[in-house]
Amino acid sequence: MSRPSVLVTRVIPDSVRERLASACDIDVYTGATAIPRDQLKARLTDKQALMCLLTDRIDADVLDAAPGLRIVANIAVGFDNIDLSAARARAIVVTNTPDVLTEATADLTWGLLLAVMRRIPEGERLLRRGEWKGWALDFLLGSDLRHKQLGIVGFGRIGRAVAARAGGFGMRVIYATLDADAPGFDSTSAYTRATVDEVLATSDVISLHVPLTDETRHLINRRTLATMKRGACLINTSRGPVVDEDALAWALRDGVIAGAGLDVYEREPVVHRALLELDNVVLAPHIGSATVETRTAMADLAARNVLAVLAGQPPLTPIVAG
Ligand code: DGY
Repeated sequence: MSRPSVLVTRVIPDSVRERLASACDIDVYTGATAIPRDQLKARLTDKQALMCLLTDRIDADVLDAAPGLRIVANIAVGFDNIDLSAARARAIVVTNTPDVLTEATADLTWGLLLAVMRRIPEGERLLRRGEWKGWALDFLLGSDLRHKQLGIVGFGRIGRAVAARAGGFGMRVIYATLDADAPGFDSTSAYTRATVDEVLATSDVISLHVPLTDETRHLINRRTLATMKRGACLINTSRGPVVDEDALAWALRDGVIAGAGLDVYEREPVVHRALLELDNVVLAPHIGSATVETRTAMADLAARNVLAVLAGQPPLTPIVAG
């Protein structure tokens, strides 16, 4: 019997490749940017499995090009790049990579938070331009974290991991879940549960940890920005379109809020021109999970999902169970 074959849309670590090779033939797209759509469709025609990235749009058109496809394993925890109902209609399993990237993404969130609050990139730019005149009492003053309120919108795995780090910085945590019925912490917890509006209106730092859905698209807009404190900083390591970038640029320019730290953008890899020109926003190139250990674990989990489904077993981390 012939071995099943998998299309992998980007180079993966050798250890993951070896794991896959134990049971499948592998076709790896080796380009440095996302696989062109015509190639994706052409190379999928004879495949039983697809391991893809958040930059690959997997819709009905792509799935129709792959009549033998049994699983789409996204190497990401987010899955807004995949048309789930199209997969469901074709009984194709869809999986993501939860848990393995939680801590790395929470770390990067704090990296942005510290960078914005303490103006580190702004200082580095000034220093490299040779404009540093030496220590001064009033030079490049940021804000203390201690005794400030961290507001977390979306209290899943990553939101909770971000909250867990707050104690070390002396920040108190308030959080909101979009789903009012979602379990929170009990009343003895150090964290306070509130509505999204309350979190936005009362926090000194607001960090977004929601998936991209119709409900969360432009959750942060002119109206919600105007409800925030003037000294507030917004951190987004979730998905770019959760924030209306036009509105954010306006709010940062006009002092409606004090600063922002972004790892994700509405039209990646394009970054809103106005944001590029502002000093009070720290911009990272979608590197929330970008550590050697985490990216290896993400690719490995996706591979284990592929192998399980091809062996007729249930997927480990299903979004659509097939
Ligand atoms: C994800 O996994 O969804 C992140 O955005 C990439 O790490």
